[in-house]
Amino acid sequence: MSGKPIGVFDSGYGGLTILKELVNSLPEYDYLYLGDNARAPYGTRSFEAVYQYTLQCVKWYLNHGCPLVILACNTASAKALRTIQQKDLPAIAPDKRVLGVIRPTAEIIGYNTKTNTIGILGTNGTVQSESYPIEIKKFFPAVKVFQQACPLWVPLVESNEYNTEGADFFIKKDIDNLINQSKEIDTILLACTHYPLLFDKIRRLTPLNINIISQGEIIAESLKDYLCRHPEIDKKCGKNSNVDLYTTDSAEDFDRHSTVFYGKSLKSIHIDIR
Ligand code: DGL
Repeated sequence: MSGKPIGVFDSGYGGLTILKELVNSLPEYDYLYLGDNARAPYGTRSFEAVYQYTLQCVKWYLNHGCPLVILACNTASAKALRTIQQKDLPAIAPDKRVLGVIRPTAEIIGYNTKTNTIGILGTNGTVQSESYPIEIKKFFPAVKVFQQACPLWVPLVESNEYNTEGADFFIKKDIDNLINQSKEIDTILLACTHYPLLFDKIRRLTPLNINIISQGEIIAESLKDYLCRHPEIDKKCGKNSNVDLYTTDSAEDFDRHSTVFYGKSLKSIHIDIR
């Protein structure tokens, strides 16, 4: 059949937590996942580096004919999406679309808080970009947003060291640093695609009156809605339920991690991107 896959991009494994929800919610579509594992983590890199790496990967998707690419990475969404949407895409592929994960999350997150106070946990890059406070304000002007960067969480997950006492210490410290900013926080958003793996731990280390939200289902709902509203994109999407996975680092490592991030073992292919 002639349709092309929907691109799903992350700096590494984290986007698999989003891909899983997309496949659950829209199983008939074809997906092409790329993890830029060789250059991850993105969270501590400069704006310029994240932009250049993300653009290279977006071009790879465009070369594969993807009509739509989702940056399933908060850091790439925060640091690269706007320039790609406004400057690069109109010049190189005006009929293709690149979407991120921050705006769809910001559009609905305000409905979850009764105290109008939200806490954001994310990478350095996502927090420093101020993307969440800026975007949430557009949809929920009355909502106050507090943020905490968690620079060690992605490395702890990537190195499979997150079920240790040492990890608990740093995870608790960052949660405490967030909730100590305001007693009113009743909703915490896990604004990094790696963090759903830490969900049980974060739940255990957070007061029970605080609601904890992951992004996977939000992004899946938002994609469903987008494809309904954009039949011109939808009709270009392949619908044979294929899921193909690529990584810029070792395929064996990727496949081993996929069980943890995706819930089942996947087979990936190594590629070089530059
Ligand atoms: N999973 C990415 C995100 O959602 C961050 C991982 C990284 O630092 O590369 O922000």
